[in-house]
Formats: sequence, structure tokens, C-alpha cells
Amino acid sequence: MAEAVGPSTESFERFNQAMGLGVVADPYPELAELRPLHVVAAGPTLMGEDVPAVVTAVSYDAVQEVLRDAARFSSAGYGDVMGGVMGRTILQMDAPEHGSYRGLLLQAFSRRAMQRWEGEIVRPVVDGLIDAIVAGAAADGGGGELVRQLTFPAPVTVIARLLDLPADQLDLFHRLAVELISVTVDFDRAVEASEELAELLLPLVDRRRVEAGDDLVSVLAQAEQDGQQLTDEEIVSFCRLLLPAGAETTYRSSSNLLVGLLTHPDQLAAVRAERALLPSAIEEALRWEPPLLTILRTATGDTEVCGVAIPAGAVVVLNLGSANRDERYWDEPDRFDILRPSHPILSFGWGAHLCLGMHLARMETRVMVDRLLDRLPGLRLDPEVDPPEITGRTFRSPSEVRVAFDV
Ligand code: HEM
Repeated sequence: MAEAVGPSTESFERFNQAMGLGVVADPYPELAELRPLHVVAAGPTLMGEDVPAVVTAVSYDAVQEVLRDAARFSSAGYGDVMGGVMGRTILQMDAPEHGSYRGLLLQAFSRRAMQRWEGEIVRPVVDGLIDAIVAGAAADGGGGELVRQLTFPAPVTVIARLLDLPADQLDLFHRLAVELISVTVDFDRAVEASEELAELLLPLVDRRRVEAGDDLVSVLAQAEQDGQQLTDEEIVSFCRLLLPAGAETTYRSSSNLLVGLLTHPDQLAAVRAERALLPSAIEEALRWEPPLLTILRTATGDTEVCGVAIPAGAVVVLNLGSANRDERYWDEPDRFDILRPSHPILSFGWGAHLCLGMHLARMETRVMVDRLLDRLPGLRLDPEVDPPEITGRTFRSPSEVRVAFDV
């Protein structure tokens, strides 16, 4: 097989291996049993007097009801969970602060920006990585491994290009990116990586305040709403957030789509023949196997959801993966079927905090699969190895996707 291509191979191997230890292969059967209850308590017997209750919303209606009502369910809890590593980010903000901050950030994710990024950044990055896959296969007569060679490096490289990082800092950025998202593997290292990322990014912000280009940092440095601008620290925290929120999710979700298609050759053939099916294939993979299963809220007062009482201060875990397989909305929800009737999925959240990068994620995924199908004729699973498996309880994706193609 070809040499692994892309950022920080060694730290990715450590991250990928640690993520694969003791993983849950399939949490969905257990979630299906709980789903009729809408909201379930998590480990009630372990709760002491002073410890907040933890409940999990498992049905579509319950998850959507919580996400629709940012007054009853606050996002502030992310400050405790992530603040130590990420700094203060948009994820933990409530109204009214959240609205004005989001307005400033939205200026960077315009439709025009998306079109420009596709042609100038995403496609060249993806083509460069596929060039290396083709060259590797031609050299050793083998196939490829699409996680290490494409789906992992592409989104993080796209973010580096969006920030317009100087070329001599790319390797460092890639290493720090993997160390930051390895926070559950090595917390101290992630905190150090977060500080080093600030050192790398702050001079860039300074420069862009004076001399703006059309990169993401420039747009953020110049963005203004009602006379307000983002501070240096806010810009740095946002750029850091793009790594777990943007790069990690997109690498996992595009890998999951490839597993869905490659393990269902008839559906792969349909997409190969008719590329207009790609958007529904992307949506179906995001429904079937979202990369991030759970997000969090905190109940601001005593309340109820789908008739289930929730006490003030309770931590509410929202299981997006379970909501996406609610049999009230999808027939045979465990089945991957790109032709099923469409219904809005909850993989990007819902309501005030709906994912800011969802159009970018969909576009990157579309370009990756489209270019793979154009450039690797006869793309199929490597028949010599076991088929890939999607695993994990909170983050889900395969650790590798080995393929063969006609060279
Ligand atoms: C398939 C890929 C992705 C998935 C599944 C995903 C999922 C999510 C989810 C579930 C949320 C809501 C969190 C909450 O309400 O607690 C969110 C928010 C967010 N996402 Fe994504 N995301 C993806 C890609 C991206 C990309 C590519 C970017 C940017 C480059 C991005 C940036 C953000 C930001 C900034 C927020 C916070 C929005 C806010 O708090 O108002 N995401 N994402």
C-alpha cells in the first residue's frame, strides 16, 4: 500500500489507535430500546444530593424540542466541559450574546465564500491528495487507505488554507490540530497545543487587522456589527474551535459515507452513474452514522420534555444519532438507503446553534467523493482485508477504509 500522505502522520496514528481502544461497536440497538421513552435518566442511582441530574433525550421529538428552546435549555455548560482547552467559544454562549457573535461569524461563511473556497481551496487540496493515492498505487501496484490518505488530511488542510497560514507553519499546525482533538487521549498535551495554536495565530490576527486579505482570519478581523468587532482572543478561540468542530467532524462523516457506499455496491454504482444523487447520499450517511452522537444543554428551570419531568440544573444529553434513527420518522432506520424519502436530520443540531459550517462540510464531502469516483475507476473495498467497521459511542467513524481500484 502507498505511504500515508498528509498531516502529522505519527500523531494521527496515536490518536486513531487510542480512539480504537475499548470502543463500542454499535450503540444503536440499546438506543432503539430506550427511544419510546423520549427522555431517560442516566445512572440515577449514582446521583448524590449535590450532583446535577443527567438525562438523555433519545427520540427525534425530544431532541428537537430541547434544541428549539434556548431559553429553557442553556449552552453555558460547554464552558466547563471544553473551556479549559478551547477558550471561550460560541458553543457556550446564550442569547443575547450568542446572536450578535454569530452574526459576526456568519459574515465569513457566505454563499460567495463557499463558491470561491470550492474552486480555489477544496478541489485543489482533494486533487493533490488523490494524486498521491494514484502515484502510490502505481508505484506498488496496491490500492489505498482512504482515511489516512484523504478523509483525515483533507478537512484540516482546508482549514489551514482558509486561515491562509504561511507554508512553513503548516506542519506545525497539522501536528497541533491532531493534539488538540486528542483531548480525551492526552488532556495536558491538548492544553499545550491550544496555547501553541494561540502563539501561532495571534501574530496572524495582528497582521490581518492592518492588512486584510480575503482569508477567514481577515474576514473575522474586519467583521463588524452594530459597531462591535471580535477581540483577538475571540478570533483565536474560534479558529481553534474549527479543528474539533470542523475538521474532526468532517473527516469522520466523509469516512462514514464512504463506508456506506462501499459496503452497498449497488448504491455506489448509482452515485457513480448519476452524480446528482450525491447530495442525498451525503444526507443519508449523516443520518445513518453522524460523526458526533451527543451534544449538551443544561435545564435553566424545572421543566418537561415530551411529558418527562426534568429538574432545574439537569445536564441534558441530546443523542443526535438516536434521534436520526427514530422509527416515527424513518422506516427501517438502521438501513443505509440513499433513495429513502428525505426528512430533516439532526446531525448538525437545530435552532440557534445550528452548525455554522454545515454547507462547507457538505461541499467538502461532495468534492471528495465526486473526485474519487472520477479519478479511481472501479473503486471498491479491498477484497483482501476485512470490510471497514464504524465504531464509537460519542464520535463514530472507521479507523481505516482500504480500497482497490483499476490502475
Ligand atoms: C459533518 C460535519 C459536521 C457536523 C456533523 C457538525 C455538527 C455540529 C453540531 C451538532 C453543532 C451544534 C452544537 C450544539 O448545538 O451544541 C455544530 C455547531 C457548530 N459547527 Fe459544526 N459540524 C460539522 C462541520 C463543521 C464545519 C466544517 C465547521 C466550520 C469549519 C463547523 C463549525 C461549527 C461551529 C462554529 C458551530 C457553533 C455554532 C453556534 O454555536 O452557533 N462545523 N456543528
